[in-house]
Amino acid sequence: MGERFYITTPIYYPSDNLHLGHAYTTVAADALARYYRQRGYETWFLTGTDEHGQRIERRAAEAGKTPKEFVDGIVAGIRELWRELHISCDDFIRTSEPRHEKVVQAIFTRLYEQGDIYKSEYVGWYCTPCETFWLESKLKEGRLCPDCGRPVELTREESYKFRLSKYEDQLLRYIEEHPDFIQPESRRNEMTNFIKQGLEDLAVTRTTVKWGIPVPFDPKHTIYVWLDALSNYISALGYGTEDDTLFRKFWPADVHLMGKEIVRFHAIIWPIILLALGLPLPKKVFGHGWLLYGKAGEKMSKSRGNVVDPRELIRRYGVDAVRYYLLREVPFGADGTYTEEQLILRTNVDLANDLGNLLSRTTQMINKFAGGRVPAPVPAVDDGILQAAVAEALAGMTAAMDRLEISDALASLWKAVARANKYIDEQAPWALARDPAQADRLATVLYNLAEAQRILAVALTPFLVETPEKIWDQLGLDPTGVRTQPWEEAVAWGGLPPGTAIRRGAPLFPRIPMPKEESDVSGNDVTNPAASGAGAQAQQPAEKAQAAEAQQSAQAPEGVALIDYEDFAKVQLRVARVLHAERVPNTDKLLRLELEVGTERRQIVSGIAQHYQPEELVGRLIVVVTNLKPRKIRGVESHGMLLAASTPEGQLSLVTVDRPIATGAQVK
Ligand code: MSP
Repeated sequence: MGERFYITTPIYYPSDNLHLGHAYTTVAADALARYYRQRGYETWFLTGTDEHGQRIERRAAEAGKTPKEFVDGIVAGIRELWRELHISCDDFIRTSEPRHEKVVQAIFTRLYEQGDIYKSEYVGWYCTPCETFWLESKLKEGRLCPDCGRPVELTREESYKFRLSKYEDQLLRYIEEHPDFIQPESRRNEMTNFIKQGLEDLAVTRTTVKWGIPVPFDPKHTIYVWLDALSNYISALGYGTEDDTLFRKFWPADVHLMGKEIVRFHAIIWPIILLALGLPLPKKVFGHGWLLYGKAGEKMSKSRGNVVDPRELIRRYGVDAVRYYLLREVPFGADGTYTEEQLILRTNVDLANDLGNLLSRTTQMINKFAGGRVPAPVPAVDDGILQAAVAEALAGMTAAMDRLEISDALASLWKAVARANKYIDEQAPWALARDPAQADRLATVLYNLAEAQRILAVALTPFLVETPEKIWDQLGLDPTGVRTQPWEEAVAWGGLPPGTAIRRGAPLFPRIPMPKEESDVSGNDVTNPAASGAGAQAQQPAEKAQAAEAQQSAQAPEGVALIDYEDFAKVQLRVARVLHAERVPNTDKLLRLELEVGTERRQIVSGIAQHYQPEELVGRLIVVVTNLKPRKIRGVESHGMLLAASTPEGQLSLVTVDRPIATGAQVK
């Protein structure tokens, strides 16, 4: 029997504006599911919606609808969003479906019959938005919910309680014996500390909430939403029903994936329900970080008005740019900050520049130097460089995926992309093409480039949903094969048949222009030449200032006052690599440069366009002032300034470094 893999996302609260933060969990789970599927695991990927509770009841009433009518429309929208993001779930469970309700009622009855649930009274504080009961001692000052900060309500009612306390020691022992159970480690420590403070029995029914699953033997009570919701992970597999084939095949889950704020429910309440039912616990509960918004790093939320609509981003930039950004930008587990500028930079640098240009250069050269057909490699003159680079990248990718480090997996693949781009520069096929004695080398170099990309496209299929097909298509292969060919076979070097007629096509990712602001730093309307008072030909004020900055940066400070070292040390100078350069449209002197500075990407605008062509800058190591306040020049943000030497006669020369050194290195 082959291996199997079961992964879940949380089930989502019905909301008509699920934002990019929500999409983050699903896209990550989707990448993992696709990865395991591709590796030949029998895979089950579950998502769905968490529809009961007071919050929905109230919102439905406000909308003048029954709760079911209210959620139906919203759930259709959520399904549509997942379709747009190409979420490959195998099942979508709704907690309002009879197949789920039946199982929850059976679980409740069983726990009651065995004495783990008992009738009692609940007096305490309830946070409706979080659907959570709180002890008075846990509340924030002003009787606010410790999680969301909103007011809680005093609740006193008859309620059934679940004996969490009984399973405290058993759960602690399990966590200690299974270090992989709660990940990342910081969340495991949080959970252990929480449990060690002692678990109170949990109120698991409400009499004041009507929109919920009724307790079968006492129907004035409805079942607490978290007990209801958590059970979806097994109800969807048919647990306890006549047909429990899926349950027998896929339980226990390999990964429950979720944001960090709901790890507590998955790492404490859920395992205790399972222990009480005598079922094995999930192998891993993984709490990822939050996607925060903007430079201030706020949590995205409707009430803050800072939600980013994934649909809008997909329309603007395409589904693969959005997926790549989500999966690559933030180390999985940590919090990350979303800015549109960073999404554009990632797309332009990693996708358009690194990956897109590689394919474009390769297909162009195969057309020009090999008549449009992939040439046959000649083993005697093969250097094996790309074969080794691809093998290493794949090993790095699979090891990272096994640790759920999705961003690292992509970074590993991009090492091979970078190596292949460098390979073109080193091997200079255009020079080989001029020398008939190098015909075998030329053929081999071109083959290696095409073959490396054939394999990289296969390795990209868990993450990107359109690009791998496009790469195979341009390489002249049947695009459907990129996802269907078994992994081992697909990634074996040499699979690209020599003689294949390539089909050079459009760039994989057109460069996205940075959004321009309506006015520059000085408040001038730079989109309107008349506003500068000098006509269309005139240099715009901001451009002048930047050109002057570029010049001033190296003028000899003769006659100026001496400064202390501390003053000099205030200027942070670093080595940067130019990843991309282009003219700022409608200007004479300005170039927009995208730079790599250590692990950071940044953009600067520089007044050197009359001295350097954009193409000759790409790949160069330059020196940049990195702690200048950002400013907008002709509507384009500049985060720093490069150093250049200049003479009064108008000569200009860039300051570079004498020998290769890591970008980000300090200059002092
Ligand atoms: N209904 C509960 C889960 C019940 S599971 C048995 C719930 N739903 S939710 O719609 O609020 O959240 C769904 C997922 O989106 C969670 O994993 C949550 O952490 C994630 N995110 C919501 N906002 C987020 C960010 N800003 N950033 C990252 N993930 C976030 O909780």
